[in-house]
Amino acid sequence: MVLLCFINFLLIMKPNLQVQSKVQPLLWDCRDGGTPSLHVLDQRLLPHEKKYLELTSYKQVIEAIKNMTLRGAPLIGITAAYGMALAVNEVKAIHELPLQIKRLKSIAEEIKQSRPTAVNLKWAIDLVLNDIAGDCHGMPLQEIITKRAVWIHEDDAMRCQKIGEHGAKIVETCRSKSLLTICNTGALATGGIGTAFGVILTVHKKNQNIKVFAAETRPRQQGARLTTFECDENEIDCILISDTACGHLMQKGEIDLVIAGADRIAANGDTANKIGTYQLAVLAKENNIPFYIAAPLSTFDLSCKSDSDIPIEERHAEEVTNINGKSICVSGVKVRNPAFDVTPAKYISGIITEKGILCGDYIDEIKNVFNEVTFA
Ligand code: MRU
Repeated sequence: MVLLCFINFLLIMKPNLQVQSKVQPLLWDCRDGGTPSLHVLDQRLLPHEKKYLELTSYKQVIEAIKNMTLRGAPLIGITAAYGMALAVNEVKAIHELPLQIKRLKSIAEEIKQSRPTAVNLKWAIDLVLNDIAGDCHGMPLQEIITKRAVWIHEDDAMRCQKIGEHGAKIVETCRSKSLLTICNTGALATGGIGTAFGVILTVHKKNQNIKVFAAETRPRQQGARLTTFECDENEIDCILISDTACGHLMQKGEIDLVIAGADRIAANGDTANKIGTYQLAVLAKENNIPFYIAAPLSTFDLSCKSDSDIPIEERHAEEVTNINGKSICVSGVKVRNPAFDVTPAKYISGIITEKGILCGDYIDEIKNVFNEVTFA
């Protein structure tokens, strides 16, 4: 019998997830007795084509993360955990358990290198490694790791839900009708409804008339391709703008609030997110517009004291020199392509987490929230 465990489908059945998205980026396929695989919606083809790629090895998972078949910090973490479950197949030929675990640890290091800024990747892999480090009580590695990967997936959905609820209160309090966001932070980037987009969706489902300005997000156009797609799927009023139009619209009073996601948040609140976020934060301050970050606690990295400790990924020049596979500039032009920037905490009105909103003295706020939290 073929048993397809479509995790997102299972989540939809959960009564405590009140707000749901129609977008399903990952499906874990655990055929009875057969080789498990991960079905990944190829986000490079969206919005024009909805095609799932079947990944059966951890090497394919690394490639899919690197080439951005899937992306978004929490989703990268979830995928990496499933990647570890797939890796178990490749250590089966090794006879002794300690040697299998040793090999899995080195595979874990390989997966961690696939994208350097999104700390959820390291967070998820470390949870998996922790599970197999101790006494496994005779439980097969495959079962232990799959159980953890599914937990990480479901757990992220719950976190998104809570972020949505906390964030919706901010939008209500600020009486914001017109929200600007950057990149894609929705179901395509997480295990649930999204972070910044989760807030937008939660407000929308409460029947509050909001309008979303989606910044295009050059060079990979996650805003233009993915956020407008998610708005369309969820019937949210959305206006696509070029990144360069954001300041103008803020100055004209057309934006009430800016909300973005995060890839890594340092212990002092400095926040790495998609390139272009920093300039939005500075422009928001100049125009007296609240600027919020929405992220789960799995995106915080307390080993980074501040911005300078956060590694910034630099990607291929072709992402900048080419549009739709065609070069737009003279060949050989020098290019820099940082994929993320860091917004200093002083520009951030608040950080919306699953545990509530952090604001004011971020060092203390972050310390306190982590003192209260234990991860399962
Ligand atoms: O390069 P990407 O598309 O992976 O970048 C994604 C972002 O910057 C998101 O804002 C961030 O990962 C948060 S997603 C909930």
